[in-house]
Amino acid sequence: MTVGQDPVKVMKQEVGKAAAARVKSGSIVGLGTGSTTAYALEYLGARIQSGELKDIKGIPTSFQASVLAKQYGIPLITLDECDRIDIAIDGADEVDPQKNLIKGGGAAHTREKIVDTLAEEFIVVVDSSKLVDKLGSTFLLPVEVLPMAIAPVMRKIEQLGGKPQLRMGVKKAGPVITDQGNMVIDVKFDAIANPAELEKTLNNIPGVLENGLFVGVTDVVLVGEVKDGKPSVREF
Ligand code: A5P
Repeated sequence: MTVGQDPVKVMKQEVGKAAAARVKSGSIVGLGTGSTTAYALEYLGARIQSGELKDIKGIPTSFQASVLAKQYGIPLITLDECDRIDIAIDGADEVDPQKNLIKGGGAAHTREKIVDTLAEEFIVVVDSSKLVDKLGSTFLLPVEVLPMAIAPVMRKIEQLGGKPQLRMGVKKAGPVITDQGNMVIDVKFDAIANPAELEKTLNNIPGVLENGLFVGVTDVVLVGEVKDGKPSVREF
């Protein structure tokens, strides 16, 4: 790391590079969303352009991932055109000691869950600030909801003990609209004692498309850290 470099950016770059290095020729790759995965896509593209990797096809989890894949020269296919995903690389907002996740900081968790859960190997790329003892301790839980159902879903979530808030746009008046045309409610739970149960309970509310709890899905977590001023990546 050179003087003046942002350590968080360097950690994200290193961990993105480490994940991209695990992709093998001939693979169908789930392309995640977020600022950390963006570096993985950049390095994946560089490996394809240099000829080191051949016959790679990407399945994007968001509009952002499609744009980056095109920019970095990663050929794209859809789920209709393949019968497997070999490896998926994606970020997370929180990771607990069991490798369960909260995702959806970029409002992409619905497509991310479809792609990441289909992958033979799901690699999560994070910097060390994302590691928590208990899910929900630093990050609100995102829930994607059909616009017409916002009011009843918020009431139901309050009955479950959550404090919901509609996610509002930045540099856009009004709520965030997902790639599917829906809205996102961010929910504060005092404690998420049983993530697997809460994941199912929330998805069972009519009008909810998907929530950001990813339970029992992760195979590998790559964690970027800065130790003694040097960036390093460790497997969790
Ligand atoms: C997108 O909806 C999210 O699930 C992201 O994967 C997550 O927010 C991680 O993003 P960063 O790598 O930008 O922190």
